[in-house]
Order: sequence, then C-alpha cells, then structure tokens
Amino acid sequence: GPELRELLLDRIHDVPDYPKPGVMFKDITPLLADAKAFGALTDALVELCERYGADKVVGLEARGFILAAPVAVRAGLGFVPVRKAGKLPGATLAQAYDLEYGTAEIEIHADALSSGDRVLVIDDVLATGGTAEASLRLIRRAGAEVAGVAVLMELGFLDGRQRLAGALEGAPLEALITV
Ligand code: PRP
Ligand code: MG
Repeated sequence: GPELRELLLDRIHDVPDYPKPGVMFKDITPLLADAKAFGALTDALVELCERYGADKVVGLEARGFILAAPVAVRAGLGFVPVRKAGKLPGATLAQAYDLEYGTAEIEIHADALSSGDRVLVIDDVLATGGTAEASLRLIRRAGAEVAGVAVLMELGFLDGRQRLAGALEGAPLEALITV
C-alpha cells in the first residue's frame, strides 16, 4: 500500500548526472542498508511469488541478485541467476539486447529451468525494458513459463512497460513504485 511505497521511496536516492550527464541514477543502497525497508521489500516480493504461483525465482545481474536471493529463500524457492555474458561455466543460452549505445548480452544456464517451471523475474529497475525483455526470451527458450516480472521501481517515462508487453504474453508486470 501507500505506506510501503513511502518507506521504499524515502530510501531510494536520486543521484543526478550519474553515470553520465543527463541521467538521474536511482541509488538503492540506502534501502538495502535499512533492515526494516529491505525486509518489507522482500516480504512484498515474496507475496507476489505466492500470488502468481511461482516455483522458481530468477534474478537479473547485478542489482536484481541482491533483491531476488532473499525472496527465494523466504519463499522457499530455488534461485536461478541470469548473468552478463561470459560468467556462467556451463552450457548457456544467450540473448542480446539493445542499450542506449550498442548492445549487451545476458545468459542463463541451459539446464537451469525445465518445462513446467513457473518463473518470477526480479530486478531493481525497469527502465527501457531491454534487460527484462531479454530475460523473458531466455526463460522461454530454456523451456519454462513466465509467472511474472516484479521490479522495485518502474521509470514510467521510458515506456519499458510497452516494450515488455509482447514478451510478457499476458503475464503480469508488477512495480512496487512507479515514477
Ligand atoms: C540496470 C538496472 C536494470 C536495468 C534496467 O542494470 O539494474 O537491470 O539497468 O534498464 P533497462 O530496462 O533499460 O534494460 P545495469 O545492467 O545497468 O547494471 P547492474 O549490473 O548494476 O544491475
Ligand atoms: Mg541491472
């Protein structure tokens, strides 16, 4: 509700012109350092796991890992990392996506998910939606179903929700805060 939103928003700090001029960086480290806020965030994400019947939690490197791992533990679910290219030792599936300038690539272990798995994807911020969209493609290519995508914060003015709509295939996108 509004109280959770206030608790979280108060501990996400705006840093202007980082990492480059014109960009407003959303710094979540004050939230992570506050046990009450981090705990409330974790509880809210666990509730989404339950609501959407997830049986696996996927976290998106790097900031998504910090949020998703405690959710997986508290929800009693396995955690599966989606990593930046070149970090996973086993056979992987890879997906490229567009950045503002150039492209990036993320990977998942090819055997990390199986058919019948229902995955909740967790990340800190939905900006353009490129990272989340690529992760949904990986999850489907790995044979699993998408239970939903949950982010701490959605930057509404970047239209990530629209970009993600096709890849969601009707699955929910939940943002605890939209700015
Ligand atoms: C940031 C953020 C999201 C992503 C959102 O990750 O943590 O994962 O960008 O942007 P998008 O919706 O436009 O794809 P980034 O890869 O910059 O850094 P991180 O490794 O610190 O998470
Ligand atoms: Mg990230």
